[in-house]
Amino acid sequence: MLIDIIAGARPNFIKIAPIVEAITKAKDRGIDINYRLVHTGQHYDKKMSHDFFEQLGIPEPHHNLEAGSGTQAEQTGKIMMGYEKLLTEKACDLCIVVGDVTSTMACSIVAKKAGNIKVAHVEGGIRSRDLTMPEEINRMVTDAITDYFFTTSATANENLKAAGVPDSRIFFVGNTMIDTLQKQMPRLMAPPVWKSANLSTGAYLVLTLHRPANVDDKSKLAALLHAIIDSSNGLPIVFPVHPRTSKVLSETGVDLSTVHLSEPMSYLEFNFLVKNAKAVVTDSGGITEEATVMGVPCMTLRDNTERPETCTIGTNELIGTDPANIPPAFETLFSGNWKKGGIPPLWDGHTSERIIANIIDIFGIA
Ligand code: UD1
Repeated sequence: MLIDIIAGARPNFIKIAPIVEAITKAKDRGIDINYRLVHTGQHYDKKMSHDFFEQLGIPEPHHNLEAGSGTQAEQTGKIMMGYEKLLTEKACDLCIVVGDVTSTMACSIVAKKAGNIKVAHVEGGIRSRDLTMPEEINRMVTDAITDYFFTTSATANENLKAAGVPDSRIFFVGNTMIDTLQKQMPRLMAPPVWKSANLSTGAYLVLTLHRPANVDDKSKLAALLHAIIDSSNGLPIVFPVHPRTSKVLSETGVDLSTVHLSEPMSYLEFNFLVKNAKAVVTDSGGITEEATVMGVPCMTLRDNTERPETCTIGTNELIGTDPANIPPAFETLFSGNWKKGGIPPLWDGHTSERIIANIIDIFGIA
């Protein structure tokens, strides 16, 4: 059996690493299972792509579609054309897509249309109900044509059932991003800023921002940064800057002298910082999951989340995108009253093994 694994953007690389490993282990046990790793090229900077492959021990992709940057339509079109060509040359038996990025949607459509190939969506079923997010459209389109849903949460299962997906196609397996985190936890390492800024455990903040709604407009970004800096009680703020944000940041005119800016950080360095931080301020989805597992207070600068369990069970709190909501959140943090969190069911480091066991079962290749 040949499985295509699609990876396009930074969070995908973290999610596919343990799946590749689980397939390799099954193959080593003599099971007739093989994979072809397809990098779409959506993220291409060394720090957004290559460094993740290296640190997480992901083998070289078999194919790189080299889609690169562009508008949503340009990027989608380039990925679709590249993947269609690949499938025309050699089809596969199953296409695994992960997460919610443009590559996820583009390749799932091609797999179904170009060869009626079965599609498995890892992290299927989650919904923000916010159609201004390109990711929500990617999730809805992908899930509309997915055959097998490997889900991270009870909420995802409910969403799928409400959309009429039968139980037989829903596999509640947990979170592959957490497989990677559990495995890499002992290898986390301090980035240079740890020493250069004289950071210590519980005495700094980590900030990431990259959602179009927060960073594409310079006055919006400036207002958020002002509120965060003014509320931070003088704690150092470490801010690894996403390429999308970096384009606007220099135009905001905000005094960033107390902020430690850096290029996007490697996986091991970034998660070292999160693990030891007083709190994380972010608009990412994946980081709210990692902060939950590490028990670190997390403020999410979004009005909604497709990962409600990070709030109901974990340490995450939706602060919203109004800068006025930021000071009260910091007051809760500094008064020592931030909630203590737990870990959502099946986020135990064994999700990818469960996914591959299910695939072996579904396709009868044991
Ligand atoms: C994408 C995902 C988002 C994910 C994020 C993580 C979609 C719709 N969005 O957003 O869900 O959380 O990745 O990083 O798929 N750029 C570079 N170098 C790169 C990659 C991008 O300079 O290696 C630039 C692009 O030129 C573009 C901007 O960054 O201007 C945004 O990149 P893009 O891949 O379109 O979306 P992200 O904002 O990264």
